[in-house]
Amino acid sequence: MLDISKSAVSHADGKILQSVSDGVGIITFNNPDKRNAMSLEMWEGLGHALASLRDDPDVRVVILVGAGNKAFVSGADISQFEKTRHNAAASEEYSKRSEAQRALLANYPKPTIACIRGFCLGGGMQVAMLSDIRIASDNSRFGIPAARLGIAYGYDGLRHLVSLVGPSWARLIMYTGMRIEAAEALRIGLVDRVLPDAELWDATMEIARTISGNAPLAIRAAKITIAEVLKDESNRDMEAIKAIGRACMDSEDFREGRTAFMEKRKPHFKGK
Ligand code: COA
Repeated sequence: MLDISKSAVSHADGKILQSVSDGVGIITFNNPDKRNAMSLEMWEGLGHALASLRDDPDVRVVILVGAGNKAFVSGADISQFEKTRHNAAASEEYSKRSEAQRALLANYPKPTIACIRGFCLGGGMQVAMLSDIRIASDNSRFGIPAARLGIAYGYDGLRHLVSLVGPSWARLIMYTGMRIEAAEALRIGLVDRVLPDAELWDATMEIARTISGNAPLAIRAAKITIAEVLKDESNRDMEAIKAIGRACMDSEDFREGRTAFMEKRKPHFKGK
């Protein structure tokens, strides 16, 4: 089970928590009374936590999770909208402040996993979709209620939605603002694996530990290459793919991987 009390670093008055366990960075959205709705302060706290775990050499993978059992993130904090997002100009300013943090997640150099139980809505879906992998509990519910609120969801969010579920499901989700159950989310590719709620955290940690035990440069090569595959061909950086490929094949870790296999032992990777 996730224990968020242990030596967590706090951001946004404790509404974003950051901790490390077994080489796994954990960021917790911690405002369960509001179903972990994201205030601007929380978006900024998320940015600080992401930057700090990115720069921690002991962390090889990051899990994002919601506190409590009711929600991952229920979207942006609607109670702030009257003041900070009431028209196009205010909304642009609001978006700039939260976009910078989402860009950090979008371009994150380490693997990220969204561990989702309960509601995952609106901006919460954006966080989940920007993560590399989505593992969800059988009680999770998904939706983007932008059309119910009169909000335009924006290019980045929709780009990720379309790439995960295709244009037709993206339209159905956006036009209706419907809620999707875990089993359907799995079927349409919105999440990668659905587990019984009681098993969710341990199973997510097991995946994270497996990733953190593998060769960091090889994982980075996969992450960079998959991101480039998703870009338009005209924007694709083939040089970046070649460079990380060369770094991998010249690495001490590749030698360690080969030697460990021949010696029938577990490899110890250093990320160089
Ligand atoms: N922003 C601000 N407050 C929110 C919130 C959000 N996105 N989501 C939930 N809350 C608050 C509720 O206002 C309520 O506050 P209160 O206790 O002061 O009345 C509290 O969280 C609990 O919510 P409640 O609706 O009573 O819980 P629930 O379990 O019955 O339903 C949700 C949970 C998430 C389904 C429901 O709260 C909801 O639909 N939230 C809005 C989701 C949304 O539109 N997100 C997109 C935003 S862009």
